[in-house]
Amino acid sequence: MPYDSYTANRETGGFIVIDRLTNTTVGAGLIHFALRRADNVHRQLGEVDKARRTTLAAHQPCVIWFTGLSGSGKSTIANLTEQQLHGLRCRTYLLDGDNVRLGLNKDLGFTDADRVENIRRVAEVARLMVDAGLIVLVAFISPFAAERAMARALVGPDEFIEVHIDAPLAIAEGRDPKGLYKKARRGLLTNFTGIDSPYEPPEQPDFRIDTTITPAGVAAESLVAFLASRGITIAK
Ligand code: ADX
Repeated sequence: MPYDSYTANRETGGFIVIDRLTNTTVGAGLIHFALRRADNVHRQLGEVDKARRTTLAAHQPCVIWFTGLSGSGKSTIANLTEQQLHGLRCRTYLLDGDNVRLGLNKDLGFTDADRVENIRRVAEVARLMVDAGLIVLVAFISPFAAERAMARALVGPDEFIEVHIDAPLAIAEGRDPKGLYKKARRGLLTNFTGIDSPYEPPEQPDFRIDTTITPAGVAAESLVAFLASRGITIAK
C-alpha cells in the first residue's frame, strides 16, 4: 500500500481504521516513517539445528500452553506437570505469567494492548525454547483466542498443546489466592480478567481440565499421560 510521511503529504500520510461490521471508525493515525527493520535483518542458520538438539534429548520439544482465569490453577498444575516430566528425564522450562512480568515483561500492564504484547513476547520465547529442544510450559491467562492462535502458529503443527484450565469465574473468585478479585470488585484494580476485562475460553483446546472435579495432582498425571500418547515424552 503506497503511503508517505504525514509531514510530506497530508493526504497519503494519515489513515483511519474502520470496523467492517459496524462501519464505525475505531482508530486513526499519522505516519512518521516506515520501519525497514525486517528488510535489513537476515536469519542466520547454525550448524547445530533443532533436529540435532532433539536427538540428544529423550523426548520431542513442544509448547504446553496453559490458559485460564487468574486463580484457575494454571501455575499449580503446570508446576506439577513439570515435576512429573522432569522425573521422566525430560528437559523442561516453565514460563509463568507472574514471573515473566517481573522481568522481561515488567514494562507491560493489563490493558488489552499490553496483554497482546505480553503474549507475543512469551510466544516468541517459547518458540526459541522449542528450537532449543525443550518442553516449554507456558502458564499465562492469555485471554484472547487470536494471540493463542498466533502462539500456535509459531511452532510446528504437532508442537503446540493448548490446555484449558477450566474454572468458572465464581470458583476462581471464591479461591482468590492473591486477594486480587476482592480488590477488583472494590474498584482498586482495573482491567481485571473476568471482571472488567474479557476472557475468551478456547473452543477446542487440545486438553481440558475441569478443576471443579479434578484435583491438581490428577490433572497433571492425566496431562502427562496425554503427552505420552502423543509421543512427546518418548525419543524418536
Ligand atoms: S495475561 O492476561 O497478560 O496473560 P498474565 O498471565 O501475564 O496475564 O498475568 C496474570 C497475573 O497477573 C495474575 O495471575 C495476577 O496475579 C496478576 N494480575 C495483576 N493485575 C491483573 C489484572 N488486572 N488482570 C489479571 N491479572 C492480574
